[in-house]
Amino acid sequence: MSDISIIGAGYVGLTTGACLASIGHHVTCIDNDARKVSMLELGEIPIFEPGLQDIVKSGLSSGRLVFTENLKAGVKSSEFVFLCLPTPEQPDGSADTSYVEAVVRDLGPLLKSGSVVIYKSTMPIRSHSLIRKLLNRDDIGIASNPEFLREGSAVSDFLTPDRVLIGSDDAHVGERVASIYSSFEAPIVITDAKSAETIKYLSNAYLALKISFVNESARFCDAVDSNLKDVLYGLSLDPRIGSQFLSPGPGWGGSCFPKDTKALLHTASDHGFDFNLIRHAVISNDIHQEEIAASVIRLLTANQRHQGAVVTALGLAFKAGTDDTRRSPALTILRHLQDHVKEIRCYDPFADLNDDPSFTRLTTPLEALKGADIAVVLTEWDEFAQLNPADIKNSMRGNVILDTRYILDKEMYRSHGLVVVSVGIPRNS
Ligand code: UGA
Repeated sequence: MSDISIIGAGYVGLTTGACLASIGHHVTCIDNDARKVSMLELGEIPIFEPGLQDIVKSGLSSGRLVFTENLKAGVKSSEFVFLCLPTPEQPDGSADTSYVEAVVRDLGPLLKSGSVVIYKSTMPIRSHSLIRKLLNRDDIGIASNPEFLREGSAVSDFLTPDRVLIGSDDAHVGERVASIYSSFEAPIVITDAKSAETIKYLSNAYLALKISFVNESARFCDAVDSNLKDVLYGLSLDPRIGSQFLSPGPGWGGSCFPKDTKALLHTASDHGFDFNLIRHAVISNDIHQEEIAASVIRLLTANQRHQGAVVTALGLAFKAGTDDTRRSPALTILRHLQDHVKEIRCYDPFADLNDDPSFTRLTTPLEALKGADIAVVLTEWDEFAQLNPADIKNSMRGNVILDTRYILDKEMYRSHGLVVVSVGIPRNS
């Protein structure tokens, strides 16, 4: 078993550290946020991620998982050092690698000879040579090992991946990194660094493109009066299309797809390449969110409730299973609506508004629905599907719910005098 350190205890770093400890490695997680480190040392995790707290606690009690703020002490004896740092979007769409660059500069003199620096952060294609230059050490290996975990199912995605991807310009380093995952059944793909970085970007771009296709198809079904539900079922039975990532919604968001598609477009344009398909997937996603907001206004107008309207948003997180609102379609749609209505009341079981005063966040769904002219389901939380329509009817002033996540039972709602509308689904179906 290997001596591993992880730099950055965010979604990816904390999951990577706790999971690697759970399969027997000795892991030191390093983070420069002292408060976060103290919390983690007590087994408290700062994010909502199913199953993560349990493996952090068992890692701590086995002694195989430790946390520190001290970079020097943390990496001193490590054979493998994982970089799990943010690479946020810059105004021009490129990925900001300054956090990674600063840490790599500091790491240079601290690493044990023969150790390997592995970057899990999604890094622009060609980062391998940048890291080599900044480290300024020939006795250290470098590898890219992009992560494919999703927020909300991070632990199981990490422990039972579809594939493990390793990129290094030194084949022996690639093999050494592969040994970390020797207990996994998944195929291990070892390639050069640029190809690994490209696989990561194209994976996210392809999935974003697929969801844009589904969301545009939903609006197309409305235009031609087809039933999206049957259409998607029919499509999904073709194994070349498949049923995964075929759920329509309010648009794709989160900390990865929006940022990574933009960074891919930026890299493409730097190389004189116009990645038309992905450019249009991004445009399609923006238009879809505007169209959802426009549907809310149309529904309010059709029901003579536009003037001074109160809108209730059920869900703020970018998807269910997480408290993350980064680039959440829910917030984008609410911002599009903001100037057209009197009040926006919100409820989400985990996500909050981070003191954004534009909207009112309530503590229960029924409170949020009080006096609403229209409600919009924006995140697919199970608890929204379990709500009692009779209670909703009593709380709301209007009777229309726009369900962008297709989770409400239309028939049951109809029997309580409520109309549930979803893009692509005929009203009377
Ligand atoms: C995504 C990828 O799925 C992971 O493989 C990758 O590791 C991660 O980005 C990353 O690069 O770090 P994540 O952003 O956590 O993971 O979330 P997803 O589950 O992929 O969802 C992204 C967005 O697409 C969400 O807004 C979600 O609601 C939407 N979505 C997803 C749909 O609208 N329909 C679907 O069928 C699936």
